[in-house]
Amino acid sequence: MNIESLLEQMTLQEKIGQLVQILPSVYDPQTSDTVTGPVAQLMEESGLTEENRFELGSVIGINQAEQALRIQQNYLKHNRLGIPLLFMADIVHGHRTIYPVPLALASMWDISEMELMARQSAIEAAASGLHVTFSPMVDLVRDARWGRVMESTGEDVWLNGEYAKAFVRGYQTDDLTRSDSLAACVKHFAAYGAAEGGRDYNTVDMSDRELREFYLPAYLKAIEAGARLIMTSFNVVDGVPATASTYLLRQILRNEWQFDGVTISDWSSIKELIQHGVAGSLAEAGEKGIKAGVDIDMMSGAYLNHLEQQIEEHVVSIDLVDEAVRRILILKQDLGLFENPYRGIDPELEKRIHLSKEHRDTARRLAEKSCVLLKNDHILPLAESQRIALIGPFATSTDVLGPWAGSGKQEEAITVRDALDEANIKYVFAEGSTVDAEIDWDQAMEVAKQAEVILLALGEASWMSGEAGSRTDIRLPKTQREGLARLATLGKPIVTVLFNGRPLDLREVVEHSDAVLEAWYPGTEAGRAIHRLLFGHAIPSGKLTISFPYHVGQLPMRYDALPTGRPMTIEGADPRYTSKYLDAPNEALFPFGYGLSYTHFSYSQLTLCEQSKESIWEASVLVTNEGTLDAEEIVQWYVQDPVADVSRPLRQLKGYERVFVKAGSNREVTFRIDASMLMYQHPDGSVKADAGEFILYAGSDSTCTLHETFWLKQTIEKEQFDEHINDRSTSTTR
Ligand code: NOJ
Repeated sequence: MNIESLLEQMTLQEKIGQLVQILPSVYDPQTSDTVTGPVAQLMEESGLTEENRFELGSVIGINQAEQALRIQQNYLKHNRLGIPLLFMADIVHGHRTIYPVPLALASMWDISEMELMARQSAIEAAASGLHVTFSPMVDLVRDARWGRVMESTGEDVWLNGEYAKAFVRGYQTDDLTRSDSLAACVKHFAAYGAAEGGRDYNTVDMSDRELREFYLPAYLKAIEAGARLIMTSFNVVDGVPATASTYLLRQILRNEWQFDGVTISDWSSIKELIQHGVAGSLAEAGEKGIKAGVDIDMMSGAYLNHLEQQIEEHVVSIDLVDEAVRRILILKQDLGLFENPYRGIDPELEKRIHLSKEHRDTARRLAEKSCVLLKNDHILPLAESQRIALIGPFATSTDVLGPWAGSGKQEEAITVRDALDEANIKYVFAEGSTVDAEIDWDQAMEVAKQAEVILLALGEASWMSGEAGSRTDIRLPKTQREGLARLATLGKPIVTVLFNGRPLDLREVVEHSDAVLEAWYPGTEAGRAIHRLLFGHAIPSGKLTISFPYHVGQLPMRYDALPTGRPMTIEGADPRYTSKYLDAPNEALFPFGYGLSYTHFSYSQLTLCEQSKESIWEASVLVTNEGTLDAEEIVQWYVQDPVADVSRPLRQLKGYERVFVKAGSNREVTFRIDASMLMYQHPDGSVKADAGEFILYAGSDSTCTLHETFWLKQTIEKEQFDEHINDRSTSTTR
C-alpha cells in the first residue's frame, strides 16, 4: 500500500476519522462495552453519524475473535477506501490466561519470564483479533496509596526500564507482521505514578531533574525497544496536562527521542483539559490536543466534533492532521492489515490456546516466582501430615486475578482451597470473614482450635486497588486484622498468605503471624502456585521491587533517597535535630529488594578490579547457600556516588543476577561496572561521570552492607563514552 497516495485520496472527514477511537458497540449491537471512563456525555457530543461511523480509525475493548471478525467485515463493507479498523485493548498481564499482576511479576527479577508472559499474552490476544495492547505501563511509583501501583513494576528507574523492554519484545517480537504479535503502547506519558498524596488523577509536580532522571527513562527504553505507540497521562506536569504538553510530546518525545510512532490520549483525557482549567470548551481542548501532538483521541469526541471546522477556519493546520493520519496508516501497514484486515483472528486457535496447558503452566510458574516470603519463623514449608486449619476470605475467593484482568474469568481461577483439595491435603476449614465485610470469627476460632497450624488467607478485594483505587489506610480491612489478632491468642503457629495489589502496612500481620507470604494477585493459577510454595514443592525466590512502608505516614518513600544534611547516623549531633519521625522509624518495614527463601544465603569476598585504562571494573562476590535446600537467590548490585555536583542517591541498583546455588555450596557471581552507570545530569545540562570515589554494594536487598570502594580517575562525558563504545563495536565487527 502506498500510504502517500492513500492520504491524497482521503477527504478531510476521512482523515479526521482515523484520529478517533470509539467503543465496539458503535459497530456491533451484540457487544457490551468494557467501560473505564465517562461515556454518557461522550455519546451526546460524539458527533457520530451513520455516514462517519465507517470512517473512524480504531476501536477500544475488542476481546473475542468472532466479535472482531464481525466488526471488521461489516466495517469494510462500508469504508470507501477499504482502510481496516485497528483493534486495541488493555492486555496488561494476560488476555484469557491471567498471569500475576505486574507488580508481582516484577518481584520475579526475571526479564526472560516477563518477556514470555508478554509473548503468551500476545498470542492469546492476537487470536482474538487484537492489534494493539495498552501495555506496558512503566510509571515509576513510590506511593503505595496509589491504587495503580499494582500495574507498575515498582520504584526503581533502571529495573523499570529493563522490564519495559521485555514487555515490548514479548508483545511485538521483531516482526510486527506476524499474525501473533501485538503493537505495544507504552503508558502513561508522563510521570502519572507521582500523583500528589497518591490520589489517582491528581497533580504531579517535580523538578525537571527528577522527571528526566527517574520518571522518563523507562518510557524511553520502551521506545528504544520499538514500542509503536505511547499514551499520554491524565495528570499535569509542571502545571500543564500531559495531554496538552508540547514540552513532553513535541520537545522530549519527538525532538529529543525521535519517536515516530503513534501518540494516543488516555480515556477522554482531551476533554479533561476543560476540568484541568486549560481549555474553555471541547473544541479548545481538541485544538490543544492536536497542537501538542496527540494523534488519536480516545473517547472524548473532541476531534470528531470540532477538527473539521478548525481546519476549515485555519485554526488548526491540515499538516498536523496529515502527520497524525500518516503515522496511524503506517502502523496499520506495518501490522499487515492492508494485506489481511483479518490478521490473526482465529476462533479455532482462540479455543485451543486460551487457557492452554502451556499458558497455565507458565502462569503457575510465574506466580511461584513472584510470591515474596516476608517472614518465616521456622514454620514453612508445611508438612502434609500437619493438622491444618484453612481460614480466611481468600481461602476460597476467586478474586485473585487483580483489577486489570483482561478477558480473564474469575470462575476459571484456582483458589487455595481448590489446590489443597487437588493435592489431597487434609484440613479443617472456616471462612472467617468475606473479603471486605465483617462477619463472625467465632467459627474460625473453633476450627482453629482443632489444628496444629493455622493457614490464613487474607487480603484486599481487587476493587481496593487499580485505577481510581487510592487508599489512605493501607492496612488490611479491619475485620481481617481483628480476626488475625483473635486467632493469635490461641498460641498456635499462623501462616498468613496475602492477596493484594499494593505494599501494605503489615505491622499487625507480622506481629501475629509466624510466616507471611506475599502472593499479590497471582492470576489464574493462584492456588496451585501457593500450594507448591507452602508445602516446599517450590522455594520462594521473589523479592520486592517496591518498599513496604512501616506506616502510611512515611509515603512517598524510596530506597534510592538522597542524603539529608542531618542524617540520624551523624556523629555527635543532638538527636532531636536529625531527619526522622518522632513516632516511626525512617526505614521501610520491608525494603526494596527484600525477600526470604527456605534457605539462607550469605555474601563474602567482594572484590573489584579495574581493567587497564578502560574505566571498567569487574566485581565479584561469593554467595553461599548456608541451608539444606538447593535454591535460587537474586544477587543485587548497588552503587553510590558519595561526592558529586548535585546530591546523589544513597545507593542505586545497577544490576542483579538470579543464581542457583546448591545447598551447602557457594558460587562466585560477577558484575561489570562501566562509566555509563556512574553518569548523571549536571546542573549545566551535561551528562557525565565525575572523577572520584564510588562505593559498590553487593547483597540480597537494598539495605546490604558489604561494600568496596573504587575510583574513577578522570571525568567522562557521555558523548565521549558513547563514541568510545561505538568505536569498539565497529572495530570488533570489522
Ligand atoms: C484508562 C487507563 O488510564 C489506561 O491505562 C487504559 O489503557 C485506558 N483507560 C483504556 O482502557
